[in-house]
Amino acid sequence: MTFRPTLVAVLALAACSRDDTAERRARLGPNPTFAQVMQIADAQAGARGFGQCAACHSIAAGGADRNGPNLHGVYGAPIAQNRPRFGYTDALQAQRGVWDDRRLDRWLADPRADVPGTTMTFAGVRDPLARADLIAYLKTQR
Ligand code: HEC
Repeated sequence: MTFRPTLVAVLALAACSRDDTAERRARLGPNPTFAQVMQIADAQAGARGFGQCAACHSIAAGGADRNGPNLHGVYGAPIAQNRPRFGYTDALQAQRGVWDDRRLDRWLADPRADVPGTTMTFAGVRDPLARADLIAYLKTQR
């Protein structure tokens, strides 16, 4: 069998494209703006990150509400209105506006600091790039 360097290179590239988070982070530098982080957000990385949400949230169209509401179509929707039959807290229902990039970023960083009284008992995602990836993923699910 002959050694095929081209195939090896292709396989190596494929492996990198599966998770280039370290590379993306390096490109961002130490103090990126929110817009810069959103610019390199990766929905596929966000799909993997969604694993930490999936215990409480389904996201497929028509999926059932669990501990948390189904999140299909939540991006761009008015806060606490995407799933009318879900029992949102008064605290979340009192929020104005829609789930856009910035609003989701604030929520996902620390839900209970963002909306005191929420029942989303989730510590939050500290890493801005990981939040941007999640937001990019939510955008694809609508
Ligand atoms: C421990 C369970 C739990 C986990 C884990 C969790 N959530 Fe939630 N989530 C909830 C609950 C409960 C609510 C409703 C909160 C309320 O009404 O105050 C909610 C609400 C939301 C909403 C608002 C929905 C709407 O219709 O307005 C979004 C967006 C959301 N979660 C995203 C996420 C994402 C993204 C993750 C993962 C990074 C996540 N959640 C992890 C339980 C959870």
